[in-house]
Amino acid sequence: MTGTYPATRLRRTRTAQWSRALHRENHLSPSDLIWPLFVTEGSGVEEPIPTLPGVSRWSVDLIGKRAKEAAALGIPCVALFPNTQPDRRSEDGAEALNPDNLMCHAVRAIRDACGNDIGVLTDVALDPYTSHGQDGLIDAVGYVLNDATVDALVGQALNQAAAGADIIAPSDMMDGRVGAIRMALERQGHANVQIMSYAAKYASAFYGPFRDAVGSRGLLKGDKKTYQMDPANAEEALREVAMDLAEGADSVMVKPGLPYLDIVRAVKQRFEVPVFAYHVSGEYAMIEAAVAAGIGEREALVMETLLALKRAGCSGILTYHADFAARLLNA
Ligand code: PBG
Repeated sequence: MTGTYPATRLRRTRTAQWSRALHRENHLSPSDLIWPLFVTEGSGVEEPIPTLPGVSRWSVDLIGKRAKEAAALGIPCVALFPNTQPDRRSEDGAEALNPDNLMCHAVRAIRDACGNDIGVLTDVALDPYTSHGQDGLIDAVGYVLNDATVDALVGQALNQAAAGADIIAPSDMMDGRVGAIRMALERQGHANVQIMSYAAKYASAFYGPFRDAVGSRGLLKGDKKTYQMDPANAEEALREVAMDLAEGADSVMVKPGLPYLDIVRAVKQRFEVPVFAYHVSGEYAMIEAAVAAGIGEREALVMETLLALKRAGCSGILTYHADFAARLLNA
């Protein structure tokens, strides 16, 4: 019920800071954040990523310290992405199944450094391991094969779970992969390993800096439109989410974030399940570019963006601004 002016003046409750705080409907906390970290070969290595200013790849010996920082800031989970060296990439991405790959080393390093004080999310998709940069196995004309890829993804997920991953996050958009991974995890003694499905992942122009970070941008020919969703579609996102939940996803993700707030809201209202959004690399880079160009203040731009994602219905947000935002929120 809304009354009429002047008995009702909506500005009344906005008059003072204390009153705005009292009437605030949504809140952001460090516990809403998942911090993506890029891992690289070597030791003592920090490699800044030019298209992702302020973000670096870290060698395994330094990654535990990043995770410790995150835990100290109250960030409950980190997400890992490897930059696999070119000579370990192949047509079939077999390095994804190597128990000694960069990802597995990083998971163990974080476990050694932090014990169970932080969750470790690992991405399931072949693009950091393939010589062609696609997320799956390809046929003679470059089409990404669904069922053969699912078999490989199951192997990749089991490899990550064996290394100690807490959340398996399939980002590949193959049909049927959540169910296949869930059943394999159950059978192999990983009943408590969660699946956060990238359920509604769009074929977006906002992933460029990420592909630089994992080293797949220069390798990728063509696009990912035969498996990632058409940005024009919303109903289809609900079908994707319904299927992934039926197959055993514990939580679902919408990706990218800010351009898809309507999808976050629709998924939350329809399914009443934990929904996460990935505020992706291009979104991060746009804010940083705006700050560098004097268009806005980083602090305000980041907080407004993350709060908007919460307001839309997110349980949490994957963002490269996680450490920055957590520091602000803790200040
Ligand atoms: C790969 C993957 C991508 C991202 C997360 N996992 C890129 C892609 O699909 O090409 C994007 C994340 C970002 O842009 O920050 N399966």
